[in-house]
Amino acid sequence: FSKVEKVTCVGAGYVGGPTCAMIAHKCPDIQVTVVDMNSEKIAEWNSEKLPIYEPGLHEIVMAARGKNLHFSSDIPKAIREADLIFISVNTPTKNYGRGKGMAPDLKYVESVARTIAQHAGAPKIVVEKSTVPVKAAESISFILREAQKNDTRLAFQVLSNPEFLAEGTAIRDLSNPDRVLIGGESTKEGQEAIHHLVSIYERWVPRDRILTTNTWSSELSKLAANAFLAQRISSINAMSAVCEATGADVREVAHAVGFDSRIGNKFLQASVGFGGSCFQKDVLSLVYLCESLNLQKVADYWMGVIDINNWQRRRFADKIIAELFNTVTDKRIAIFGFAFKKNTGDTRESSSIYVSSHLLEEHAKLAIYDPKVSEKQIRMELGNNVDKQIVEKLVTVCADPYEAAAGAHAIVVLTEWDEFKELDYSRIYSSMQHPAAIFDGRLILDQPVLRDIGFRTFAIGTAPDQAYNLFGSSGCC
Ligand code: NAD
Ligand code: UDX
Repeated sequence: FSKVEKVTCVGAGYVGGPTCAMIAHKCPDIQVTVVDMNSEKIAEWNSEKLPIYEPGLHEIVMAARGKNLHFSSDIPKAIREADLIFISVNTPTKNYGRGKGMAPDLKYVESVARTIAQHAGAPKIVVEKSTVPVKAAESISFILREAQKNDTRLAFQVLSNPEFLAEGTAIRDLSNPDRVLIGGESTKEGQEAIHHLVSIYERWVPRDRILTTNTWSSELSKLAANAFLAQRISSINAMSAVCEATGADVREVAHAVGFDSRIGNKFLQASVGFGGSCFQKDVLSLVYLCESLNLQKVADYWMGVIDINNWQRRRFADKIIAELFNTVTDKRIAIFGFAFKKNTGDTRESSSIYVSSHLLEEHAKLAIYDPKVSEKQIRMELGNNVDKQIVEKLVTVCADPYEAAAGAHAIVVLTEWDEFKELDYSRIYSSMQHPAAIFDGRLILDQPVLRDIGFRTFAIGTAPDQAYNLFGSSGCC
């Protein structure tokens, strides 16, 4: 074909849905079909209530759906008709067998490659959008070449085109990406395939922001980018512990450090640890890759990023327990936020799961509020981590933050939702047990104002609230 006219994306998740909505939005002459083996999800994409929440997504889906954007469960048909196919399926950390807890599970990617081999019927460009270990494109090519042997009409080019969008800002990131990365073979056919994909992105991304590399550089760059980003968070979180112990303020340290133009001021927000479906999974994938390559020192180096993250979550939970006079048993604690960051309903690997679980293990009664996460989702995530009966008995999911805080001994802020900054904390204070404490794991609240109201306050990376530190806080960490 001389020009890509039909695009199919296998995987209608957080990446496949928004990415294809953007392509359809920017390229009205291209027919875009998103398919998934989960037919309920496809039904939701075809309904008024989309399966994921992303600011700005609803508008662009509604504008293109039924015109040049389609959601379907007919995977063979969508594969047959497409010129270019994105593989955008999940690659979660394996929870069984070899590489358990470390390696990404590539069974979904492989199964899509086999489905493409079976139904292609004509030449296709296959684009690896999922995050995969280096050389995954080789396995996909291998499977597709087998199909080619049996059907001479077939020809495949496999490209790597990792996605860099962040949840909560997906539409902004897709419409104005820092860069688009495309890796492919250096052969004439490989370069032609790269050109076809470049010409899609070129419609809205300046050409100098579209980087083309060899396939392996592209695959590794995605893991490296996520590892560098996660490392920055672990670096500032490691500093937050030093701040708490010394009287330095992590916000001031981040500001001063980030002012150095070589370091830069983004992604230096101390927190209760990074969550989300990508950072931990991709750093573990890099660690596993390094171990497989006998690069143990490199593996250990990157593992430190994960170790600090887990430690930060535990440290924060321990701090809560210590400050609540070393026992939280039967105490009501309000949890503000369950999503892994604001502006998303996604809870995958959210630090809220881990901090809540530590508190549940101490038999605290949790009253959880999140504006975008359903009760079912909260119970499912906690039930995967602690005994389901404990979750049943000790967890209440509340419809608003005031209800969650009423009668509580403490409020724990775990997601940085803007609405938590606007609450009437005097009203909240008077509805709580006293002494009432607030633990700010996101540094979003105004500590002096809260202290004036009467709260004991603790915020990550800042000196403990000495005036109320009657029982000492050195018990943590
Ligand atoms: P997701 O779980 O939201 O969506 C994946 C979808 O693929 C699911 O709906 C699943 O049903 C479908 N699927 C799996 N196997 C299939 C098959 N054989 N046939 C048809 N459908 C199948 O995952 P996601 O968050 O969109 O992530 C997809 C990939 O993109 C992952 O590799 C991830 O690491 C990467 N990524 C994710 C983000 C993010 O912010 N979520 C950002 C960048 C990259
Ligand atoms: C990340 C990458 O940013 C994105 O480029 C990649 O494609 C997928 O993984 P995402 O996980 O959606 O995106 O969100 P991100 O904004 O990176 O936040 C990840 C976690 O780190 C969140 O829990 C967030 O709260 C936390 N975080 C982020 C911090 O704790 N401090 C920061 O300074 C930034």
